[in-house]
Amino acid sequence: MKILAIESSCDETSAAVLEKNGDGIVVLSNITATSLEIHAKTGGIIPENAARMQVRYILPVIIEALCTSENRRQKSKDKSWDRARTILKQDIDAIAVTYGPGLIGSLLVGVETVKTLAYVFEKPIIPINHLLAHIYANYIQTINYKLQTINFPFVGLIVSGGHTDLLLFNKHGKYEWLGGTRDDAAGEAFDKVGRILGLPYPAGPEIERRANLVVQTNIKFKSPIISEDNFDFSFSGLKTEASRYIEKSGVTSGGGPQTPLLNEVCYATQKAIIDVLVKKTLKAAEKYNCSTILVGGGVSANQTLIDQLKLNAKRSNLNPEIFSPEKIYCTDNGAMIGAYALLNYSEVNWSEIKANPELYFA
Ligand code: KG4
Ligand code: ZN
Repeated sequence: MKILAIESSCDETSAAVLEKNGDGIVVLSNITATSLEIHAKTGGIIPENAARMQVRYILPVIIEALCTSENRRQKSKDKSWDRARTILKQDIDAIAVTYGPGLIGSLLVGVETVKTLAYVFEKPIIPINHLLAHIYANYIQTINYKLQTINFPFVGLIVSGGHTDLLLFNKHGKYEWLGGTRDDAAGEAFDKVGRILGLPYPAGPEIERRANLVVQTNIKFKSPIISEDNFDFSFSGLKTEASRYIEKSGVTSGGGPQTPLLNEVCYATQKAIIDVLVKKTLKAAEKYNCSTILVGGGVSANQTLIDQLKLNAKRSNLNPEIFSPEKIYCTDNGAMIGAYALLNYSEVNWSEIKANPELYFA
């Protein structure tokens, strides 16, 4: 089974071709166009801008993904629409696409494009929940990341720019929502503090880089609701706390030299976010007796988060194994949509799919 998978829920436009090889999910191509430069200028995503760029990118990205999937084996340089059309017609069994959650304009670009392709080429559609796909990025087999045995039940931690959720997966397609953020998402907290600090959007990677430079600091921000006996999170207070500290101490990047104090604020912000994520995720694993934890979403690219999860897991009685996707599959990408589709195959006709920006967990 070979599928074409499309992701366009937020600011990325991505297409991938994947196939199932035994239990392994193999990515034959994964092409992503980003409009980050535009969002960096506006300090965040303006939905209209994101969707306009996606209208421009969607077909070139699909053509490139289809042609590259074949070129891997045949070394052909042909990247024309004609070649892509032949591959789609002959080799692709179904088309997977994110139908929610996300920005409505962005989702519509992917969904409507796929509807048209599915109708014209008579292919079934596999509608995908973007959030669940972040967790399934862990199933992608790569050269340095051979397929591991992922045992059910497992705990899934989704940490992205828009969401923070803990789920219990009992088997493919059968999961239970344990808790999530009551306000801002973990990635959003990184981005909002970064914005106050004058760091470029998205601020997560830059905050991590700066935090890594800090050896010692006395700055400490609270990890909200860390002691509550639930699986919920709350990050909006952190932004306020960091903002007050920044105002009081006069820390800014201002385009000038990196100040040690600015890096320390980054360290304290990252630590406050990570501490609560680690504590509640391990608590969930313990409560539901899970020996495996899968992390996914843009913030799972944060190495300190993964290291801290592993370190604290080792110290716990259960000692669960921690998995996170290869870095390129942490942030939004088409391959993760395909991975979820191949392991949870459920097709609909072209006329039965509808973008749903509010989609959550069924
Ligand atoms: O999953 P994603 O690409 O998009 C959404 O579905 O939201 O996540 C983007 C988020 C941004 O908030 C970004 O700041 C954060 O992931 N992020 C990171 C890192 N890399 C990306 N946060 C912390 N550390 C990182 N290394
Ligand atoms: Zn995402």
